[in-house]
Amino acid sequence: MKINNSELVISAVSQKQYPQMEVPEFVLLGRSNVGKSTFINTLINRRNLARTSSKPGKTQTMNFYKVSGPKDFLFVDMPGYGYAKVSKKERAKWGEMIEEYLLNREKINEVFLLVDSRVGPTEDDKLMFDWLKYYGIDPIIIATKFDKLKKSKVDKSINTIKDKLELEESDILIPFSSETKNGFNEVWKIIDEHL
Ligand code: GTP
Ligand code: MG
Repeated sequence: MKINNSELVISAVSQKQYPQMEVPEFVLLGRSNVGKSTFINTLINRRNLARTSSKPGKTQTMNFYKVSGPKDFLFVDMPGYGYAKVSKKERAKWGEMIEEYLLNREKINEVFLLVDSRVGPTEDDKLMFDWLKYYGIDPIIIATKFDKLKKSKVDKSINTIKDKLELEESDILIPFSSETKNGFNEVWKIIDEHL
């Protein structure tokens, strides 16, 4: 898709701040440092629209990014979970924020759940996945940082993700890399289908 513009609409922490726009919405979930913000930047070819960091815990608010092209849409970049150095109180707050969003937002078109391809799904990832399924949300699983995976580990990584999350045939798993652009077209195809 040809993108004309992309911009941060708002960094929200609660429901009343969500933007009022009748456009499709795609949300990024995953543990801290898995590559959610980088995923957005890669897809829209911007180096640093969504702020990234080599240190976990960078994104602390729900950041709504509007992407304008032939058809507009929103990316929602979420704070990552599972980062031990964030205080318990802070983690609980982020958890509530994510839950409030997922349970109340009406126009979520697709949820991308990012899992580090080298680490495999953590316990938190499994909890997040099961929670989504319980509420009738089928996330697309994105296996991030695929460029960092040795060729000999590729099959094992994919099988580990499938096994640990107990994926079914109908679940979609896409290997992704911000470096090689692996998965770029597949993800865009999914987004395009909603526009
Ligand atoms: P939080 O905001 O803390 O939740 O993290 P995040 O999930 O948004 O992660 P972020 O996009 O900030 O990326 C974390 C680190 O991983 C950064 O140093 C990125 O450059 C790196 N990274 C992300 N995706 C890839 C990838 O596909 N390949 C490689 N090699 N590095 C990546
Ligand atoms: Mg981030």
